[in-house]
Amino acid sequence: MVSSSPSSSRTMRAVQYDKYGGGAEGLKHVEVPIPSPKKGELLLRMEAASINRVDWKFQNGKARPFLPGKFPFTPVCELAGEVVELGVGVSGFSQGDKVIAVNFPGGGGLAEYAAVPASQAALRPPEVSAVEGACLPMAAFTALAALRRAGVGLDAGDGPPKNVLVTAASGGVGTFAVQLASLAGHYHVTATCGARNLDLVRSLGADEALDYGTPEGAALRGQSGRKHDAVVHCGEGFPWSAFEPALADAGGVVVGTSPRASRPSPSRCSIGRSSPGRSWCR
Ligand SMILES: NC(=O)c1ccc[n+]([C@@H]2O[C@H](COP(=O)([O-])OP(=O)(O)OC[C@H]3O[C@@H](n4cnc5c(N)ncnc54)[C@H](OP(=O)(O)O)[C@@H]3O)[C@@H](O)[C@H]2O)c1
Repeated sequence: MVSSSPSSSRTMRAVQYDKYGGGAEGLKHVEVPIPSPKKGELLLRMEAASINRVDWKFQNGKARPFLPGKFPFTPVCELAGEVVELGVGVSGFSQGDKVIAVNFPGGGGLAEYAAVPASQAALRPPEVSAVEGACLPMAAFTALAALRRAGVGLDAGDGPPKNVLVTAASGGVGTFAVQLASLAGHYHVTATCGARNLDLVRSLGADEALDYGTPEGAALRGQSGRKHDAVVHCGEGFPWSAFEPALADAGGVVVGTSPRASRPSPSRCSIGRSSPGRSWCR
C-alpha cells in the first residue's frame, strides 16, 4: 500500500541492499524515511520502475568501488511517478504532474517515494502508461543516440534514403531502434533477431527480418540483397569484421551499443581510410 502523502507519514517502504552480490537474497524490505527533495529535485510518489541490466550490474559489484556511491542502496534508476513536492528552484513542474525520470546512478526506484533531479525528468503524456514510461529512458535514448551517431536522421529531409541494419532487434535497445528508424519513413530497415521474434520485429516496422541462426542472418543481408549505410549493432559476441561485406560500397557506419564491443583492429581501421565513409564507433 502506498502512503497517501509524504506529510501524513514520514517513512516509506523500500527495497535495499547493503553490500555487493547476494542476488535476490541480498534485497531487503525496509522501512526508511521519505527523502526530502533537495534544490532542483522533485519528490515523486512512485507509480512504476523499470529494472535495467545496469541495476543488476551495480548490485553485482561490476562498478565497484564507485557505484553504488554508498550502502544501503535503493536500486533502480528508471522511474515513473507523480510529483508530490518540489525542491527549491524547480520550475516547469507542478504538484500532481505525472513524470518519467532517470535517476542515474542514484537509483531509488524500488521505494514508495523517490527524489530525482528535475533536469532528468519529463512530463509523461497521458497516452503513455506509467509502466511504458518507466521502460523508456535508457533503452530508447541509447537507440536514439546510436541512430544519430550512425547518421540516421529522423526528420523528413534528413538526406537521401538509407539502408539501416539493427542487430539484436528484439532486445530492449533494438526494439526502439527499429521503431524510430521505421517511423522516420524514409529508411529501409533490416533487423536480425531469434526465429521466435521475427514477427515481433516485423510488427515494429522492420522491412526485412532475419533470423540470426540462418546463413542470411549470419551474413546480415536479406533477400533484397541490400547493403547497409548505417548499422546499429545491439548484439554481442561477433566480430566487427562480420559487418564488412554487408556495408554499402560507398561506405557505411557501424555503431555498437555494447560496452564490451571491441574496436576494429588497426588493419580494419585501414579499411576505414580506403573507404572514407566506412567507420566504427562505440
Ligand atoms: N538496455 C539498455 O538500457 C542499454 C543501454 C545502453 C547500452 N545497452 C547495451 O546494448 C546492448 C543490447 O542491450 P539490450 O538491453 O537491448 O539487450 P537485451 O534486451 O538483453 O536483448 C538482447 C537480444 O540479443 C538478441 N541476440 C542474441 N544473440 C544474437 C545474435 N547472434 N544476433 C542477433 N541478435 C542476437 C536476442 O534476440 P532473441 O531473443 O530474439 O534471440 C535478444 O533480444 C547490450 O550490449 C547492452 O549492454 C543497453
